[in-house]
Amino acid sequence: MTITADLGGRVAIVTGASSGLGRHFCSVLSGNGAQVVAAARRIDRLEHLVADGAAARAVECDVTNDGDVGALVAAAVELGGPHIVVNAAGFGDEGDALEVSVDEFRRTLDVDLTATFAVSQAAAKEMGSGGAIINIASILGLGASWPVKQAAYCAAKGGVINLTRQLGAEWAGRDIRVNAIAPGWFPSEITEEMFENEKSLAWIRRNTPMRRPGRLDELDGALLLLATSTFITGQVLAVDGGWSAR
Ligand SMILES: NC(=O)c1ccc[n+]([C@@H]2O[C@H](COP(=O)([O-])OP(=O)(O)OC[C@H]3O[C@@H](n4cnc5c(N)ncnc54)[C@H](OP(=O)(O)O)[C@@H]3O)[C@@H](O)[C@H]2O)c1
Repeated sequence: MTITADLGGRVAIVTGASSGLGRHFCSVLSGNGAQVVAAARRIDRLEHLVADGAAARAVECDVTNDGDVGALVAAAVELGGPHIVVNAAGFGDEGDALEVSVDEFRRTLDVDLTATFAVSQAAAKEMGSGGAIINIASILGLGASWPVKQAAYCAAKGGVINLTRQLGAEWAGRDIRVNAIAPGWFPSEITEEMFENEKSLAWIRRNTPMRRPGRLDELDGALLLLATSTFITGQVLAVDGGWSAR
């Protein structure tokens, strides 16, 4: 079943657009009529998206750089937006919490949490007639990661979830809906090693009630719902085959 929405006349910013979930979201949003401003550091990949019609603009952007974030939002303003923001830029640390350096911890929080706030704030200031912000959190923001040790990632994604609630409440009066998707396990660069390793895949299957990882297209319904819904805000929607229901 293909889920569709009418996003004609909408301008969407997607961070993390050079691979994985973000790249997929560009195709879904543009396929449903939105003009997509695709952002990431690997500009060559974004230019492919523009060439393929999955994005209207490619903006080279390090989400931890305030100037880059300003330029990203300015590109969306030039197109008449932004109306939708998908904060998908992110990466995961790994390591024993006794060993990980505080600098590394800060860097993960900078990209996964602080930049989510920075992009949301800069975009919200330009959303004169309201809009939808969709933060890509994680099931690892809903509970601990075990046995893989990821203190910074879990802290950041937990922060993204409560930031979503806070911004949803604060900006409700401006008709800016802020929601989060908490994906389970999906194929992307971040999870490439896991998906290539039969033991890791078996672990995902064993611990997921639906007994398998997700397909990228299984995120489309949540994305389009949160992009178009007019009365849902401050919520987190897990798309995880039942992982967080255990
Ligand atoms: N895959 C999963 O199973 C899964 C599950 C739960 C949550 N998530 C979340 O989904 C989001 C997308 O991840 P993914 O799985 O699609 O991984 P991915 O394929 O590694 O994509 C990560 C994206 O983030 C961008 N990025 C990283 N650091 C950045 C920075 N400083 N500035 C700008 N862009 C930056 C990367 O682009 P450049 O390197 O080109 O800048 C890339 O486009 C992340 O927030 C991740 O935590 C993924």
